[in-house]
Amino acid sequence: MLFETERPQTLEQLVGRDKEVTRIKEFLQKPEGIPHLLFSGKSGTGKTTMASIIAREVFGDALKANYYEFNSSSTRGIDFIRDEIAEIAKRRPLGANYKIILLDEADGITPDAQQCLRRIMEINANYTRFIFTCNFPYKIIEPITSRCVNITFDPIDLLTIAKHLKRIVVKHKLNYTDEQIKQFAKISNGDMRLAINNLEGNIDISSSEILDTLTLSKIKTMNLDEKMSLAFSVDPELLFSKLFDLVQKEKSWDKLFPMAECNYKMNMSIHKTLFIANLLEKNF
Ligand SMILES: Nc1ncnc2c1ncn2[C@@H]1O[C@H](COP(=O)(O)OP(=O)(O)O)[C@@H](O)[C@H]1O
Ligand SMILES: [Mg+2]
Repeated sequence: MLFETERPQTLEQLVGRDKEVTRIKEFLQKPEGIPHLLFSGKSGTGKTTMASIIAREVFGDALKANYYEFNSSSTRGIDFIRDEIAEIAKRRPLGANYKIILLDEADGITPDAQQCLRRIMEINANYTRFIFTCNFPYKIIEPITSRCVNITFDPIDLLTIAKHLKRIVVKHKLNYTDEQIKQFAKISNGDMRLAINNLEGNIDISSSEILDTLTLSKIKTMNLDEKMSLAFSVDPELLFSKLFDLVQKEKSWDKLFPMAECNYKMNMSIHKTLFIANLLEKNF
């Protein structure tokens, strides 16, 4: 997969993250090492990549013995924290002053497990640092966020993505025009993983065609299967803003309230498509 082979290995290779990189470099120079970190932002913005680059910078050859990565996206409960994480947090670092534990996609850790984690952070603070990544920082309890330096990963801007894609296209001799590259960048919505994936799969060009030709009357003629296939084939945020445009253009004001409700729920959830699907079924 291109997005894996093109995963940045150093801070310099991360594009569009200058502000964050400067801060991280400052932490790396401190004699006491890095603080606990919480990276939040939508997917494909470099959070996991940043965590592994930091670990490589801190540990060099001693990486394997001191860097522990866990993905928490499928819900992780208290047993996982009490048994696995507590055990690891207790271990002494090897050939380094401290260890780093990455809890990737920490929104999946249940609140009671997070309470337990908070104590583990306290007890082992001298030789264990945590890096958390999440989509939604409000899903992390305050006693943890307040122990971390919070860094927000904004969506990567369109031009930076386009430039990066161009570099990959040239390097791998892919056959895309600048116009197509710009289109890929645009529909990625600040998500670099999606942008790079699109270079390989060409999938979302079609979804942008779907969006370009969408009208309210067309949706009205769709049966349930067609509506669901629309909801599940297009990026939910893009589909939502397209629907919002259409509602404004066609002055379909009766849809404003259901849309407001849908938007609110989408913002609270990582499963945005479900709410768009429901909106299409009930209100369009
Ligand atoms: N700032 C960036 N610069 C260059 N490539 C990036 C950047 N952010 C993400 N990518 C690309 O997207 C892929 C996914 O990034 P990742 O760090 O896993 O994102 P996240 O953890 O925020 O979902 C990486 O493998 C890399 O190819
Ligand atoms: Mg990630």
